Amino acid sequence: MRHHTKLLAAALVALGLGAGLPAVAADVTSLRGAVAVDELDAKPEIWGVEEGKAFGRAYRQQPPLIPHRVDKYEVDLKTNQCLSCHDWPFNTEFGAPKVSETHYVDRQGNRLDNVARTRWFCTQCHVPQMDAPELVDNTFEPAR
Ligand code: HEC
Ligand code: HEC
Repeated sequence: MRHHTKLLAAALVALGLGAGLPAVAADVTSLRGAVAVDELDAKPEIWGVEEGKAFGRAYRQQPPLIPHRVDKYEVDLKTNQCLSCHDWPFNTEFGAPKVSETHYVDRQGNRLDNVARTRWFCTQCHVPQMDAPELVDNTFEPAR
């Protein structure tokens, strides 16, 4: 690794770019803060899932947030434990909201008996809700 870095530095010096490098690197900050590249981050804070009451949606088409923990539920190519509560007819037994009807339609618009493969990996779109601060400050306001 170090060997490569030296080679790169040598190449940049040869191009007449070497002198500008250290100054640029010193100005760069990232979400990690001012932590040197070879240092470990401080442990991140762990935010618990807010269970029970569902958070509102910030815009009409938003995938609803998940008001419960999901770390015990396996989802892979063959198994989807979310569906054992959220697919019809199990949803009535568990008092869980049924997956949306849109989840039974494939890319070509065909209606299916089972959840479409395009909706298989639930946590691609649905994430557990937490009252954590934004990583980056922003002025986003929910649509009205
Ligand atoms: C043991 C049954 C069970 C399992 C397994 C389960 N859920 Fe739930 N889920 C519920 C219930 C019950 C609710 C209704 C709110 C509550 O009681 O927490 C819910 C609520 C939700 C909601 C909110 C829906 C809305 O309309 O607001 C989403 C999204 C959701 N779950 C996604 C998932 C995903 C994704 C998984 C798998 C990673 C999963 N659930 C696994 C029972 C389950
Ligand atoms: C590609 C993104 C995507 C994936 C993947 C996905 N969903 Fe959704 N889901 C949404 C969106 C968007 C909505 C709200 C609009 C709608 O109803 O289609 C929704 C709605 C829901 C609802 C609320 C239904 C209602 O009538 O209130 C539940 C429950 C749900 N999804 C569960 C799941 C589960 C379980 C999976 C995995 C099997 C899953 N979703 C996969 C995007 C997704």
